[in-house]
Amino acid sequence: MIEAHKLSKFYSRGLYALRDLSLSVGKGEFVFLTGPSGAGKSTLLRLLLRQERPSEGDLIVNGHNLSTLSRRDVQEYRRGIGFVFQDFKLIASRTVLENVTFVLEVLGVPPAQQRRRAFQVLKWVGLQHRVNAYPRDLSGGEQQRIAIARALANDPLLLLADEPTGNLDPDLSLEIMNLLREVNAGGTTVLVATHDRELIRLVGRRTITLDQGRIVEEA
Ligand SMILES: Nc1ncnc2c1ncn2[C@@H]1O[C@H](COP(=O)(O)OP(=O)(O)OP(=O)(O)O)[C@@H](O)[C@H]1O
Ligand SMILES: [Mg+2]
Repeated sequence: MIEAHKLSKFYSRGLYALRDLSLSVGKGEFVFLTGPSGAGKSTLLRLLLRQERPSEGDLIVNGHNLSTLSRRDVQEYRRGIGFVFQDFKLIASRTVLENVTFVLEVLGVPPAQQRRRAFQVLKWVGLQHRVNAYPRDLSGGEQQRIAIARALANDPLLLLADEPTGNLDPDLSLEIMNLLREVNAGGTTVLVATHDRELIRLVGRRTITLDQGRIVEEA
């Protein structure tokens, strides 16, 4: 699913956010990405979402070489990827249902299908009874579940999450991780960046540790 070979990213010469990184993540894997602040976790996720291009080396995802994707292919590529952020990034002026149908609308899915699919994923995260609520009426854990539903609406092959539990207390964090594990059990490859070692220990999955842009440990 993901093949990185001597992948580097720098923003100014000599200052590497990622340096000579090689890794391989298979289809259907669940992988944690950890390491201290500034290690390069978010940078790797941004490259995988193709928000930025690699500076050197290769990054191949699902057969797409992310260094050479054309603008048109970037759109097509991103359709296969779901992304979850630390701060949920829900649209405050839209209801729960609209937050999910919105992404499908952008992708050109017909309205009837948008609603059907949105109900399906919201039911799946256990929030079908809150479809008409607004994000401000929901707890942090509920907002993150909606963000996950939204990321799944398009049935992505790969789900990327950057500190998805960074704003949540330990119980809710574990709940969200369990939800991501269920997503993974459905066949989606999941990559989660977190500095929460305790959470990683509880979930117990493959863990790649970065420091100063390099892989320092794999467990
Ligand atoms: N747009 C940018 N311009 C310049 N430097 C950047 C940029 N984005 C990231 N960096 C640098 O790249 C390095 C890696 O940053 P990154 O955000 O990937 O770390 P991180 O592991 O996600 O850290 P955190 O745990 O704090 O989120 C840092 O030294 C950071 O300052
Ligand atoms: Mg980060």
